[in-house]
Amino acid sequence: MSMKGKDLLSIHDLSVDEVYQILNLSKELKAKQKNGEEHHLLKGKTLGMIFQKSSTRTRVSFEVGMYQLGGMALFLSANDLQIGRGEPVKDTARVLSRYVDGIMIRTFSHDEVIELAQYSDIPVINGLTDLLHPCQALTDIFTVMEHKGELKGLKMAYVGDGNNMVNALLHACAKVGMDIAVATPVGYSPNTQALAEAQEDAALSGSKITISNDPTEAVKNADVIYTDVWASMGQEKELAERMKVFHGFQVNKELLSAAKPDAIVLHCLPAHRGEEITDEVIECSQSVVFDEAENRLHVQKAIMALLMGN
Ligand code: CP
Ligand code: NVA
Repeated sequence: MSMKGKDLLSIHDLSVDEVYQILNLSKELKAKQKNGEEHHLLKGKTLGMIFQKSSTRTRVSFEVGMYQLGGMALFLSANDLQIGRGEPVKDTARVLSRYVDGIMIRTFSHDEVIELAQYSDIPVINGLTDLLHPCQALTDIFTVMEHKGELKGLKMAYVGDGNNMVNALLHACAKVGMDIAVATPVGYSPNTQALAEAQEDAALSGSKITISNDPTEAVKNADVIYTDVWASMGQEKELAERMKVFHGFQVNKELLSAAKPDAIVLHCLPAHRGEEITDEVIECSQSVVFDEAENRLHVQKAIMALLMGN
């Protein structure tokens, strides 16, 4: 089944087959780029990239990815767009649909992205909302597949905040049959709807989901350890409070040693060394965070080619 013209707002909306289409094309495009083979799947196409929040990886990987596919990307800061002065999302959607072939948006409210997609005639890609970060989570399972050769039956442990990252990882693991054990402080659990959606898919794929407040228990037998910042973009004011609450939820050598000896460490980055992860762990041989960052490029190229290609 073709994904042409579809949106990518949440991994839960994808079929298992679509997830594998993305992973397989990512592998192919990565090889082509490494071999210097031209792969202009989006020749002459344009992507509008709306940013309401900061970004290094998402901005650069989408922009470079579009260029490598033979198209071009426009960086549209929400501060400079009329959307920042109150032009309705539904109007922005219809105007941009007349100019570009796809929209990538990073913003706060997930509902805003849903509205944008409803009113756009072109594919809309979620580049992070307060609820989900699907492009990152698809990249993460691609990175696991590269390093472990498979996905089904592996175990991921996520330690830290129940944020957009873990919500998307729950979706991703549940689709492909990976087990996921989440350990957060009390009161910082993943989003209940995202969890329910993941459980729905887990019942089909056989993946086991556990949610607890115990990092050591979560990492037991884990093949992958994942963490993310304790205060996400927009939560800066809560940082001091969160530093206290999240004490004990740090990925350090001791926690790493409770996982499988060949466990890999992932982090979407940017990382706050000394908070959710130690410098020692992020720099150790089990950490694959820079492969993970690189893979954003290859996976998003696959996503764009599938949604926006001919
Ligand atoms: N991981 C990630 O999305 O990074 P940026 O915020 O730099 O885009
Ligand atoms: N949870 C983080 C992810 C950054 C890529 C945030 O939303 O800030």
